[in-house]
Amino acid sequence: MTNDHYRMRIAVLFGGTSEERDVSIASAAQIIPALRALGHEVFAVDTASGRLGFAQERQLLSAAVAPAPPSTTDIARVRGGAMVLSPQSFDLHETDVVFIALHGGAGEDGRVQALLDLAGIPYTGSNHIASAAAMDKELSKRLFRSVGVPTPDWLMAPATGDAAGAVLGWPMVVKPNKQGSTVGLSVVRSGAQLQEAIDLALQFDDEVMLERFVPGREFTVGILEGAALPAGEIISPGEIFDYSSKYQTNGAREIFPADIPAAESAMLQEYARRAHGVLKLGCYSRIDFRRDDAGNYWCLEANSLPGMTATSLLPQAARAAGIEFPELLDRICRCPQGALIKAR
Ligand SMILES: Nc1ncnc2c1ncn2[C@@H]1O[C@H](COP(=O)(O)OP(=O)(O)O)[C@@H](O)[C@H]1O
Ligand SMILES: [Mg+2]
Repeated sequence: MTNDHYRMRIAVLFGGTSEERDVSIASAAQIIPALRALGHEVFAVDTASGRLGFAQERQLLSAAVAPAPPSTTDIARVRGGAMVLSPQSFDLHETDVVFIALHGGAGEDGRVQALLDLAGIPYTGSNHIASAAAMDKELSKRLFRSVGVPTPDWLMAPATGDAAGAVLGWPMVVKPNKQGSTVGLSVVRSGAQLQEAIDLALQFDDEVMLERFVPGREFTVGILEGAALPAGEIISPGEIFDYSSKYQTNGAREIFPADIPAAESAMLQEYARRAHGVLKLGCYSRIDFRRDDAGNYWCLEANSLPGMTATSLLPQAARAAGIEFPELLDRICRCPQGALIKAR
């Protein structure tokens, strides 16, 4: 570690009440011991239940991610018991930084960031405006196009099968506009299946996106401190990178750096820097792409709080650049908070 290493007091914020609660618990379970091993003083705060004692911490953080996201009844139970996250959850004067290990929901859409800003508490990642913009897939896509980053055509529901099919062709992807981890997403093959897919997506968001399906390969590019990390390829067992391929061991094969020509990899990195920059994202992010059979790349979305277990995609990308997991976390903790880091 670098010479300027000093011991920080870090609150790791995790859990929450989004569909990605389990994913967040998995991230925190690896972030917390890694930060402690670096010598930092770390305490764990579940935004649904408050600051954890050691025994609670050990119990909650030892669970693996289940094959499917928590059910609506599970989530309702956690939400029902939810405390209101407040600055009292932290020891205001003694916390150097809050490490946001939340995924989805209020932790990823900017609300938690805004709360921390109001309380004057520094935190990792992106500020509230960039977080909100990245969470909104449609807004993100408009911004991607404004800086020349290709993104597949789309429509917003309501739409009839005939009208949508004429614009987007079949199959098409139907997804909640603000959701992650492939929750509520369907690949729809005909007009007859469209409404059912829209109704499913509506369970997770009041806005639903219909998007042209991009067959082919899938890639992702991590950004750290404004610089693009090596691109990686994700090879899923099925047609899309779904919840179980994302979080089950051997669910998908991930190749870092991706086996593509150097010029294509440089272009992907350029697209990722532009996408990160136009959304005004902070210290780090991860941008997802598909590559069609003609070799064109299409940006799907930007993740302001990508998965953060040691084997998640962003940490793998960092490793391909020679940055091991603890160093990655340390650098994320040291990024200027809420500051726009210019793409370079
Ligand atoms: N337009 C599309 N064409 C092909 N596959 C898609 C498309 N949109 C999403 N997918 C698949 O679904 C996965 C999740 O979609 P994404 O837009 O990244 O949302 P999120 O990860 O936030 O749930 C992608 O990783 C990809 O495998
Ligand atoms: Mg994605």
